[in-house]
This record gives sequence, structure tokens and C-alpha cells, in this order.
Amino acid sequence: MAEAAFTPRVFSGIQPSGNLHLGNYLGALKRFAEAQERGTETLYCMVDLHAVTVWQEPADLTRATRELAAGFIASGLDPARSILFNQSQVAEHSQLAWVFNCVARMGWMQRMTQFKDKAGKNAQNASLGLFAYPALMAADILAYHATHVPVGEDQKQHIELSRDIAAKFNHDYGVEFFPLPEPVIEGAATRVMSLRDGTKKMSKSDPSDMSRINLTDDADAIAKKIRKARTDPEPLPSEAAGLAERPEARNLVNIYAALADMSVEQVMAEAGGQAFSVFKPRLADLAVERLAPISGEMKRLMGDAAAIDAILADGAGRARAIAAPILRRTYDIMGMVGAPRS
Ligand code: TYM
Repeated sequence: MAEAAFTPRVFSGIQPSGNLHLGNYLGALKRFAEAQERGTETLYCMVDLHAVTVWQEPADLTRATRELAAGFIASGLDPARSILFNQSQVAEHSQLAWVFNCVARMGWMQRMTQFKDKAGKNAQNASLGLFAYPALMAADILAYHATHVPVGEDQKQHIELSRDIAAKFNHDYGVEFFPLPEPVIEGAATRVMSLRDGTKKMSKSDPSDMSRINLTDDADAIAKKIRKARTDPEPLPSEAAGLAERPEARNLVNIYAALADMSVEQVMAEAGGQAFSVFKPRLADLAVERLAPISGEMKRLMGDAAAIDAILADGAGRARAIAAPILRRTYDIMGMVGAPRS
């Protein structure tokens, strides 16, 4: 398929299911803002329908959705230039997801590592939605014919499944209708690790709050978490290769590089040989300098829930204007009868 025939369009999503953390910021939000600055058309979604694949208290979901929207805006996403909305306001996501439930194969879904991780030992008790999660994700992307999907490393398998779904639909119906979306996994912090264990991903579900930096943390909390971050006793090596067997050191260097917009090599040239007693305070200062304005702005925005809701409603309207004709065309391709159009 001539993928170049599709106009570049960026789509990505984040679940409103708890605190936004540094991994979400460096792996996703910061890169979402960069895509916006490059002038590509950008759509970003608070995926509330994905969040409810596991239990969410209704009041918590409402709050988390607004807080996520505030996090997007505070990270530099401009609701006038990017389309910001929550998934449940655009019914086309669910409608196209049903179509993709009929395209995707059980075997494909069973291979998804996120399902295996989240369902745990008791997979029989997981919701059907958790199993079908990647088909909804494919629908999120393909309802807009999005071509590029900036994500952290952990979402790569899901984007590949979206490509498989698009390709199978195109093949089965003999069309070149859906683009094969590209995962965009770039930069020094595509997989930010826990501050307590450099072999585990930084995650909102880690029971230890010391394992992650939340975007709502104040300067003291950020500095304390970095000071207490687990490290080995050696000073930083002088070259990036020396980080290979040192996951905690590598993680802190990656975080520094991503926050400072530097390459890992540049950080090593500057900080190689430093003891952590020197490097950690520098990292803490940098993190506070970059993150404190975001948390301050989030707090301010959270003071006006009606304004956030209005932004999401406006974004949903603009999103629907793109997705509705694509869904209708999908149904037409499949032979679904619809009202005649003039
Ligand atoms: P979610 O909500 O778990 O995470 C949102 C984004 O943050 C990235 N991320 C990380 N990046 C680096 N280091 C980490 N420790 C880290 N933790 C999280 C994730 O890779 C992601 O980019 N299924 C998706 C949401 C989704 C979506 C979509 C994404 C739904 N529909 C369509 C793209 C396109 C998820 O659960 O992300």
C-alpha cells in the first residue's frame, strides 16, 4: 500500500486511571507537545473507555480525566492547535472497535503481554474489555486515519497489533482504506524505570510512591525522591557503554538527558566520573526546574473544572467531524446499509 498517500496525522492516548508520572511525561506528554510544535495535525485522547477495563470509582474517573486534561495543557498542549478530548464523547471509537473485534483474532489478543500482566494469574476473572483492549486502541488510531503514534516502549506491541488489524481489514475487503500506523518511540526516556528498582518500569500501579515522580509532586517531594533513588556505589562511568549493566545509573542518566533535551552521550561527556552525591542534586534541580511549573499550572487549571470540560467537549466535536465520515466509509466498505447521502 502506498502509505505516503495518507496525510501525516498524529494520534495518541493516555488512560485517566491515576497519577501522571515522569514516565508518562517524558515518554508521552513531552513528545506530544514536540509533535504539535512541528506543525503536524495532532489529536490526543484521555482514554476513559480503556480505563474502565479495570474497576474505576466513578468520582475518581471524573477527577482523573480532568487532571489528565490539565496535565496535557500544562505540558504545552494547546487546545486550539491540538484536538484534546476524552474518548467516551466520541462514539465512533466504540463503534469502530466493534468492527475490529470482528477483524482481530483471539490468538493475536492472547499474545499481548499487557493483558497477561494485567490479568495476572486469574485471567478467567478479567473483564472481556481488558482482553479486547487493543482492538479499541486500534480503533482510536484508525478512526482518524492517523499515521504516527508517539508512545513509550511498553505500547509498541499494541501499535503493531493495530497495524495487523488495519492490514487484515484492507486485505479482507480488497481496499487500501486504513493506513498502517507507525509507532514513534524516540528519545532517551522511552522506558523510564522505577526509582526503587531499575529493572521495573515506573508505573502508576506501583504501591511505593517513592518509586515514581508524580506530576503533582511539589519541589520537596521531587528532590527527596531523587535523593533516595536506589543506585550502586560506583561513580558514573565516563562513557554510555559503561551503563549497560547498571540499570539504576542508566535510568537516572536517561531521565537527565530527556529533561535537559540532551543525548545520553552529551550527559556522559558532562557528568561522567561524578559521584551520585554530586549528580543526584543536579538531577533534582533540573527535575524541579522542569516539573514544578507543570504541577503549578495543573493545580491552577484544576480550579476550574467547567473550563476543562468545555475544552474536552470542543475537542470531541472536532474529533467527531474527522471520525464520523471514516466510520461511515468503513461501514459502506463492509456492506452495511445506511441512509442515502446527497
Ligand atoms: P498509559 O496510559 O499506560 O500510558 C500513557 C503513555 O505513557 C507512556 N508510559 C511510559 N513511557 C516511558 N516510561 C514509562 N515508565 C512509561 N509509563 C507509561 C506509555 O507508553 C504511553 O505512551 N494503551 C495506552 C493508551 C492508549 C493509546 C491509544 C496510546 C489507548 N489508546 C492509542 C496510543 C494510541 C496506555 O495504556 O497508556
